[in-house]
Amino acid sequence: MTPPAIASPGTNLPHANAVQTTGVVVEQVELAHDTYRQRIACPEIAQRIVPGQFFMLKPGGSTDPLLGRPFALYDVYRDAAGNVAGFDFGYHVVGKLTGQMRDWQGGEPVELWGPLGNGFPISPVGPLLCVGGGIGYTPFLAVAREAAGVAVYGDPPRTAARQEPRPPGGGVTLLYGVRSRPHRADLSDFDGIPGFRTRIATDDGSEGHHGFVTDLLREELSARPPAAVYCCGPEPMMAAVARICREYGVACWLSLESPMACGFGACFSCVTRVVTNEPPGWDYRRTCIEGPVFRSDALLLGT
Ligand SMILES: Cc1cc2nc3c(=O)[nH]c(=O)nc-3n(C[C@H](O)[C@H](O)[C@H](O)COP(=O)(O)OP(=O)(O)OC[C@H]3O[C@@H](n4cnc5c(N)ncnc54)[C@H](O)[C@@H]3O)c2cc1C
Ligand code: FES
Repeated sequence: MTPPAIASPGTNLPHANAVQTTGVVVEQVELAHDTYRQRIACPEIAQRIVPGQFFMLKPGGSTDPLLGRPFALYDVYRDAAGNVAGFDFGYHVVGKLTGQMRDWQGGEPVELWGPLGNGFPISPVGPLLCVGGGIGYTPFLAVAREAAGVAVYGDPPRTAARQEPRPPGGGVTLLYGVRSRPHRADLSDFDGIPGFRTRIATDDGSEGHHGFVTDLLREELSARPPAAVYCCGPEPMMAAVARICREYGVACWLSLESPMACGFGACFSCVTRVVTNEPPGWDYRRTCIEGPVFRSDALLLGT
Protein backbone atom coordinates (compact mmCIF):
# COMPACT_ATOMS: atom_id res chain seq x y z
CA MET A 1 0.00 0.00 0.00
CA THR A 2 1.28 3.43 -0.83
CA PRO A 3 0.18 5.41 2.19
CA PRO A 4 -2.21 8.25 1.44
CA ALA A 5 -0.79 11.73 1.68
CA ILE A 6 -0.59 12.93 5.25
CA ALA A 7 -1.64 16.36 6.39
CA SER A 8 0.64 19.06 5.15
CA PRO A 9 2.28 21.44 7.61
CA GLY A 10 -0.04 24.22 8.67
CA THR A 11 -3.25 22.25 9.08
CA ASN A 12 -4.66 21.54 12.53
CA LEU A 13 -4.79 17.76 12.14
CA PRO A 14 -3.05 15.62 14.75
CA HIS A 15 -0.17 14.88 12.45
CA ALA A 16 0.07 18.31 10.87
CA ASN A 17 3.83 18.20 11.25
CA ALA A 18 4.23 14.87 9.44
CA VAL A 19 5.62 14.38 5.96
CA GLN A 20 5.71 11.47 3.56
CA THR A 21 9.09 11.26 1.95
CA THR A 22 12.02 9.10 0.94
CA GLY A 23 15.32 8.54 2.67
CA VAL A 24 18.54 6.65 2.19
CA VAL A 25 20.26 4.26 4.56
CA VAL A 26 23.63 5.71 5.51
CA GLU A 27 25.02 2.94 7.71
CA GLN A 28 24.16 0.41 10.30
CA VAL A 29 25.99 -0.81 13.36
CA GLU A 30 25.39 -3.98 15.37
CA LEU A 31 24.51 -3.06 18.97
CA ALA A 32 23.81 -6.53 20.39
CA HIS A 33 22.60 -9.96 19.31
CA ASP A 34 20.12 -9.39 16.43
CA THR A 35 19.97 -5.69 17.36
CA TYR A 36 21.16 -2.87 15.12
CA ARG A 37 21.35 0.90 14.95
CA GLN A 38 20.43 2.18 11.50
CA ARG A 39 21.16 5.69 10.25
CA ILE A 40 18.88 7.23 7.62
CA ALA A 41 19.50 10.47 5.76
CA CYS A 42 16.18 12.31 5.89
CA PRO A 43 16.34 15.93 7.06
CA GLU A 44 12.58 16.53 6.65
CA ILE A 45 11.64 14.08 9.41
CA ALA A 46 14.79 14.54 11.51
CA GLN A 47 14.22 18.28 11.85
CA ARG A 48 10.66 17.77 13.14
CA ILE A 49 10.83 14.67 15.35
CA VAL A 50 10.93 14.78 19.19
CA PRO A 51 11.87 12.07 21.73
CA GLY A 52 9.29 9.27 21.91
CA GLN A 53 7.81 10.02 18.50
CA PHE A 54 8.06 7.45 15.73
CA PHE A 55 8.05 7.13 11.96
CA MET A 56 6.82 4.46 9.57
CA LEU A 57 9.32 2.80 7.25
CA LYS A 58 9.11 0.45 4.27
CA PRO A 59 11.53 -0.52 1.51
CA GLY A 60 11.80 1.98 -1.33
CA GLY A 61 10.27 0.89 -4.64
CA SER A 62 9.00 -2.42 -3.26
CA THR A 63 5.70 -3.80 -2.01
CA ASP A 64 7.32 -6.53 0.07
CA PRO A 65 6.28 -6.00 2.77
CA LEU A 66 3.15 -4.17 1.73
CA LEU A 67 2.75 -2.23 4.98
CA GLY A 68 5.24 0.05 6.67
CA ARG A 69 6.48 -0.68 10.19
CA PRO A 70 6.80 1.78 13.09
CA PHE A 71 10.15 2.62 14.71
CA ALA A 72 11.00 5.12 17.43
CA LEU A 73 13.58 7.88 17.28
CA TYR A 74 16.97 7.02 18.80
CA ASP A 75 18.66 10.30 17.92
CA VAL A 76 19.16 12.79 15.11
CA TYR A 77 22.55 13.47 13.54
CA ARG A 78 24.05 16.55 11.92
CA ASP A 79 26.16 17.08 8.82
CA ALA A 80 29.56 18.75 8.73
CA ALA A 81 27.90 22.18 8.55
CA GLY A 82 25.92 21.45 11.75
CA ASN A 83 22.55 21.03 10.05
CA VAL A 84 20.21 18.19 11.06
CA ALA A 85 20.66 15.65 8.28
CA GLY A 86 18.87 12.50 9.40
CA PHE A 87 18.12 10.20 12.28
CA ASP A 88 19.19 6.97 13.92
CA PHE A 89 16.92 4.25 15.27
CA GLY A 90 17.53 0.92 16.92
CA TYR A 91 15.78 -2.26 15.87
CA HIS A 92 15.56 -5.85 16.95
CA VAL A 93 15.17 -8.51 14.25
CA VAL A 94 11.78 -10.19 14.77
CA GLY A 95 10.18 -10.80 11.36
CA LYS A 96 9.83 -9.93 7.71
CA LEU A 97 10.97 -6.33 7.42
CA THR A 98 13.51 -6.30 10.24
CA GLY A 99 14.93 -9.52 8.73
CA GLN A 100 15.42 -7.67 5.42
CA MET A 101 16.79 -4.55 7.10
CA ARG A 102 19.65 -6.49 8.66
CA ASP A 103 21.11 -6.96 5.14
CA TRP A 104 20.69 -3.37 3.98
CA GLN A 105 23.85 -1.56 2.99
CA GLY A 106 24.49 2.16 2.72
CA GLY A 107 22.54 3.64 -0.23
CA GLU A 108 19.38 1.53 0.26
CA PRO A 109 16.33 3.72 -0.54
CA VAL A 110 13.44 3.73 1.95
CA GLU A 111 9.93 5.19 2.10
CA LEU A 112 9.14 7.05 5.28
CA TRP A 113 6.28 8.95 6.88
CA GLY A 114 6.48 10.85 10.11
CA PRO A 115 7.08 12.15 12.66
CA LEU A 116 4.05 10.43 14.17
CA GLY A 117 2.49 10.17 17.61
CA ASN A 118 2.86 12.42 20.62
CA GLY A 119 6.28 11.57 22.11
CA PHE A 120 7.31 11.70 25.74
CA PRO A 121 6.50 14.89 27.65
CA ILE A 122 9.38 17.32 28.14
CA SER A 123 11.17 15.87 31.13
CA PRO A 124 10.49 17.35 34.56
CA VAL A 125 13.31 19.28 36.22
CA GLY A 126 13.68 16.70 39.02
CA PRO A 127 15.20 13.23 38.62
CA LEU A 128 13.75 11.17 35.79
CA LEU A 129 13.73 7.36 35.78
CA CYS A 130 13.56 5.65 32.39
CA VAL A 131 12.79 1.94 32.31
CA GLY A 132 13.63 0.13 29.07
CA GLY A 133 13.03 -3.52 28.31
CA GLY A 134 14.94 -5.03 25.37
CA ILE A 135 14.87 -2.73 22.33
CA GLY A 136 12.54 -0.45 24.37
CA TYR A 137 15.57 1.37 25.78
CA THR A 138 16.23 3.22 22.50
CA PRO A 139 13.84 6.21 22.90
CA PHE A 140 15.71 7.17 26.07
CA LEU A 141 18.89 8.39 24.39
CA ALA A 142 17.07 11.44 22.98
CA VAL A 143 15.04 11.80 26.20
CA ALA A 144 18.28 11.89 28.25
CA ARG A 145 20.10 14.23 25.88
CA GLU A 146 17.17 16.64 25.79
CA ALA A 147 16.74 16.49 29.58
CA ALA A 148 20.44 17.24 30.09
CA GLY A 149 20.21 20.21 27.76
CA VAL A 150 22.80 18.91 25.32
CA ALA A 151 20.33 18.51 22.42
CA VAL A 152 17.12 20.10 21.19
CA TYR A 153 14.48 18.42 19.05
CA GLY A 154 11.52 19.52 16.96
CA ASP A 155 10.64 22.36 14.63
CA PRO A 156 10.16 24.73 16.31
CA PRO A 157 12.47 23.33 19.01
CA ARG A 158 10.35 22.24 21.96
CA THR A 159 13.08 23.12 24.51
CA ALA A 160 16.00 25.50 24.60
CA ALA A 161 19.37 23.88 25.22
CA ARG A 162 20.26 24.61 28.83
CA GLN A 163 23.53 26.40 29.46
CA GLU A 164 23.90 24.90 32.94
CA PRO A 165 23.85 21.19 33.79
CA ARG A 166 20.82 19.91 35.73
CA PRO A 167 21.12 20.18 39.50
CA PRO A 168 22.88 17.30 41.29
CA GLY A 169 20.49 14.37 41.57
CA GLY A 170 18.25 15.88 38.89
CA GLY A 171 19.57 13.77 36.06
CA VAL A 172 18.25 10.79 34.14
CA THR A 173 18.70 7.18 35.27
CA LEU A 174 18.12 4.38 32.77
CA LEU A 175 17.05 1.03 34.20
CA TYR A 176 17.70 -1.38 31.36
CA GLY A 177 16.44 -4.95 31.42
CA VAL A 178 17.51 -7.65 28.97
CA ARG A 179 17.54 -11.42 28.78
CA SER A 180 21.32 -11.87 29.03
CA ARG A 181 24.67 -10.19 28.39
CA PRO A 182 24.78 -10.96 24.60
CA HIS A 183 21.39 -9.21 24.23
CA ARG A 184 22.58 -6.11 26.08
CA ALA A 185 23.15 -3.25 23.63
CA ASP A 186 26.32 -1.20 23.59
CA LEU A 187 25.33 1.90 25.58
CA SER A 188 28.36 4.04 24.66
CA ASP A 189 26.08 6.53 22.85
CA PHE A 190 24.91 7.59 26.33
CA ASP A 191 28.49 8.34 27.47
CA GLY A 192 29.11 11.91 28.56
CA ILE A 193 25.47 12.96 29.07
CA PRO A 194 25.63 15.12 32.22
CA GLY A 195 23.82 13.58 35.18
CA PHE A 196 23.11 10.32 33.35
CA ARG A 197 23.50 6.95 35.01
CA THR A 198 22.43 3.45 34.09
CA ARG A 199 21.64 0.22 35.90
CA ILE A 200 21.30 -3.11 34.14
CA ALA A 201 19.23 -6.20 34.98
CA THR A 202 19.55 -9.52 33.19
CA ASP A 203 17.13 -12.43 33.52
CA ASP A 204 20.01 -14.92 33.81
CA GLY A 205 22.35 -12.81 35.96
CA SER A 206 25.06 -12.65 33.28
CA GLU A 207 25.39 -8.89 33.90
CA GLY A 208 24.16 -6.46 36.53
CA HIS A 209 21.22 -7.35 38.73
CA HIS A 210 20.08 -10.99 38.45
CA GLY A 211 16.34 -10.63 37.95
CA PHE A 212 13.77 -8.31 36.48
CA VAL A 213 14.30 -4.61 35.87
CA THR A 214 11.25 -4.02 38.07
CA ASP A 215 13.39 -5.08 41.08
CA LEU A 216 15.69 -2.14 40.27
CA LEU A 217 12.67 0.12 39.89
CA ARG A 218 11.51 -0.71 43.43
CA GLU A 219 15.01 -0.04 44.78
CA GLU A 220 15.21 3.33 43.04
CA LEU A 221 11.71 4.42 44.05
CA SER A 222 12.51 3.58 47.68
CA ALA A 223 15.92 5.30 47.66
CA ARG A 224 15.19 8.51 45.76
CA PRO A 225 11.72 9.07 44.36
CA PRO A 226 11.91 10.59 40.86
CA ALA A 227 9.71 13.33 39.44
CA ALA A 228 8.44 10.84 36.86
CA VAL A 229 9.00 7.41 35.32
CA TYR A 230 9.07 6.87 31.55
CA CYS A 231 8.86 3.29 30.30
CA CYS A 232 9.02 1.35 27.04
CA GLY A 233 9.25 -2.40 26.56
CA PRO A 234 7.19 -5.58 26.46
CA GLU A 235 3.61 -5.06 27.64
CA PRO A 236 3.81 -7.33 30.74
CA MET A 237 6.86 -5.37 31.89
CA MET A 238 5.08 -2.04 31.33
CA ALA A 239 2.00 -3.29 33.21
CA ALA A 240 4.27 -4.23 36.15
CA VAL A 241 6.02 -0.83 36.03
CA ALA A 242 2.62 0.90 36.03
CA ARG A 243 1.48 -1.12 39.08
CA ILE A 244 4.67 -0.33 41.01
CA CYS A 245 4.50 3.39 40.20
CA ARG A 246 0.89 3.48 41.36
CA GLU A 247 1.99 1.80 44.61
CA TYR A 248 4.65 4.50 45.16
CA GLY A 249 2.47 7.37 43.95
CA VAL A 250 4.85 8.34 41.13
CA ALA A 251 3.69 9.69 37.76
CA CYS A 252 4.38 7.13 35.03
CA TRP A 253 4.29 7.36 31.25
CA LEU A 254 4.29 4.28 29.00
CA SER A 255 5.19 4.11 25.31
CA LEU A 256 3.10 1.35 23.73
CA GLU A 257 4.38 -0.77 20.84
CA SER A 258 0.99 -1.79 19.42
CA PRO A 259 1.23 -3.31 15.93
CA MET A 260 0.35 -0.62 13.39
CA ALA A 261 -0.62 -0.62 9.71
CA CYS A 262 -0.89 3.06 8.75
CA GLY A 263 0.55 5.07 11.66
CA PHE A 264 -1.70 8.11 11.14
CA GLY A 265 -5.17 7.21 12.31
CA ALA A 266 -6.82 5.68 9.24
CA CYS A 267 -6.93 1.92 9.89
CA PHE A 268 -7.73 1.40 13.62
CA SER A 269 -5.29 -1.53 13.79
CA CYS A 270 -3.50 -0.03 16.79
CA VAL A 271 -6.27 0.53 19.33
CA THR A 272 -5.70 0.24 23.06
CA ARG A 273 -8.16 0.50 25.93
CA VAL A 274 -8.25 3.67 28.02
CA VAL A 275 -10.22 4.56 31.12
CA THR A 276 -13.21 6.89 30.54
CA ASN A 277 -15.87 8.51 32.74
CA GLU A 278 -18.69 7.09 30.59
CA PRO A 279 -20.13 3.56 31.06
CA PRO A 280 -18.70 0.94 30.71
CA GLY A 281 -15.72 2.92 32.02
CA TRP A 282 -13.38 2.35 29.12
CA ASP A 283 -13.10 2.98 25.40
CA TYR A 284 -10.66 2.38 22.55
CA ARG A 285 -8.06 4.92 21.48
CA ARG A 286 -5.70 4.79 18.52
CA THR A 287 -2.14 4.38 19.77
CA CYS A 288 -0.69 6.08 16.70
CA ILE A 289 -2.73 9.27 17.22
CA GLU A 290 -3.24 9.62 20.97
CA GLY A 291 -0.04 7.74 21.84
CA PRO A 292 2.21 5.94 21.64
CA VAL A 293 2.92 7.59 25.02
CA PHE A 294 0.10 7.45 27.59
CA ARG A 295 -0.14 8.23 31.29
CA SER A 296 -0.14 4.76 32.84
CA ASP A 297 -3.24 5.49 34.94
CA ALA A 298 -5.19 6.21 31.74
CA LEU A 299 -4.61 2.71 30.36
CA LEU A 300 -6.22 -0.68 30.89
CA LEU A 301 -3.27 -2.97 30.23
CA GLY A 302 -3.56 -6.75 30.38
CA THR A 303 -7.07 -6.70 31.78
C1 LIG B 1 5.33 3.30 18.13
C2 LIG B 1 6.21 2.08 17.93
C3 LIG B 1 7.56 2.23 17.95
C4 LIG B 1 8.39 1.11 17.76
N1 LIG B 1 9.73 1.30 17.81
C5 LIG B 1 10.55 0.25 17.59
C6 LIG B 1 11.95 0.44 17.60
O1 LIG B 1 12.45 1.56 17.77
N2 LIG B 1 12.73 -0.65 17.38
C7 LIG B 1 12.19 -1.90 17.16
O2 LIG B 1 12.94 -2.87 16.98
N3 LIG B 1 10.86 -2.09 17.17
C8 LIG B 1 10.04 -1.05 17.35
N4 LIG B 1 8.68 -1.25 17.32
C9 LIG B 1 8.17 -2.59 17.01
C10 LIG B 1 8.35 -2.80 15.49
O3 LIG B 1 7.45 -1.97 14.80
C11 LIG B 1 8.11 -4.27 15.13
O4 LIG B 1 9.12 -5.05 15.72
C12 LIG B 1 8.17 -4.40 13.61
O5 LIG B 1 6.96 -3.92 13.09
C13 LIG B 1 8.36 -5.83 13.21
O6 LIG B 1 8.33 -5.85 11.81
P1 LIG B 1 8.73 -7.16 11.01
O7 LIG B 1 8.24 -6.99 9.61
O8 LIG B 1 10.18 -7.45 11.19
O9 LIG B 1 7.94 -8.30 11.78
P2 LIG B 1 6.58 -8.97 11.28
O10 LIG B 1 6.93 -9.98 10.25
O11 LIG B 1 5.57 -7.93 10.97
O12 LIG B 1 6.12 -9.64 12.64
C14 LIG B 1 6.91 -10.57 13.32
C15 LIG B 1 6.26 -10.91 14.63
O13 LIG B 1 6.28 -9.75 15.48
C16 LIG B 1 4.96 -9.45 15.87
N5 LIG B 1 4.88 -8.00 15.89
C17 LIG B 1 4.85 -7.13 14.87
N6 LIG B 1 4.78 -5.86 15.31
C18 LIG B 1 4.78 -5.95 16.65
C19 LIG B 1 4.71 -5.02 17.70
N7 LIG B 1 4.63 -3.71 17.47
N8 LIG B 1 4.69 -5.47 18.96
C20 LIG B 1 4.75 -6.77 19.21
N9 LIG B 1 4.82 -7.72 18.28
C21 LIG B 1 4.82 -7.31 17.02
C22 LIG B 1 4.05 -10.06 14.87
O14 LIG B 1 2.78 -10.35 15.43
C23 LIG B 1 4.82 -11.33 14.51
O15 LIG B 1 4.61 -12.33 15.46
C24 LIG B 1 7.82 -0.17 17.52
C25 LIG B 1 6.44 -0.31 17.48
C26 LIG B 1 5.63 0.81 17.68
C27 LIG B 1 4.15 0.67 17.63
S1 FES C 1 -2.01 2.46 12.84
FE1 FES C 1 -3.70 2.91 11.57
S2 FES C 1 -5.05 3.91 12.97
FE2 FES C 1 -3.26 3.61 14.15
